[in-house]
Amino acid sequence: MKKQKIRLGVNIDHCATLRQIRGGVTSYPDILQCAKWSKQGGAEQITIHLREDRRHIQDKDLKILCQWRGLPINLEMALNSDVLKMALKHRPDWVCFVPEKRQELTTEGGLDALQNEKSLALYISQLKKKNIKVSLFIAPDLKQVNSAKKVGADAVEFHTGHWVLFKKNKKAQEWVKLVQSSNLAHELGLKVHAGHGLDYQRTKEICKLNFLEEVNIGHSLICYSLQDGLVKSVRKMKKVLNQK
Ligand code: PXP
Repeated sequence: MKKQKIRLGVNIDHCATLRQIRGGVTSYPDILQCAKWSKQGGAEQITIHLREDRRHIQDKDLKILCQWRGLPINLEMALNSDVLKMALKHRPDWVCFVPEKRQELTTEGGLDALQNEKSLALYISQLKKKNIKVSLFIAPDLKQVNSAKKVGADAVEFHTGHWVLFKKNKKAQEWVKLVQSSNLAHELGLKVHAGHGLDYQRTKEICKLNFLEEVNIGHSLICYSLQDGLVKSVRKMKKVLNQK
């Protein structure tokens, strides 16, 4: 099978984390500038998560980035009616539904699409009316993939966090789940995306997943950028994605 090009979405939430950690009173770092640097490095999408608790990305960031239109915007959000209103107002290109817990350090697991079919179908139908495409951030699990199809999603984003952290047998088992889930998603006509915990090495490995079209990467890139700057770090990640 001919390997297709994998798009890179750069998640810039942690640029906003740095700003908000001082109460949001500083104008730096400039979130739009971070998006522009990502684009300069070769990013094909900007990903942001507007959380219910607004601990990093703020409403104004969503507005500014959606007005910029320099790259497609992928808005991660929980099933929350206030955030839905923001999405319908600012019209990002994609919405990715994610689970959210107040105390979590990051998005720790996949969304339970099976348990949320009714609300997902309702939210997705509203987004579709505005031509916003939808992905669901789920664990690599066949039941979840089937649910994603049922509720009308365009894509699934597989949570790679466990696969990244697991070792030996557990890692191999998680890879099998990723392969099977990716195959099923493709059969059902869903696009396959992936993200969470991907650094240069893990990104190189995840590229072997059949049907993968997009990865969303945040934490590692923002950390690498402390040494190399964001443009250079994104450029290096793009090289990893383009390796044959
Ligand atoms: N994709 C989704 C849906 C996420 O919630 C996150 C974390 O915010 C990422 C990708 C990026 O994960 P990381 O910051 O570990 O690269």
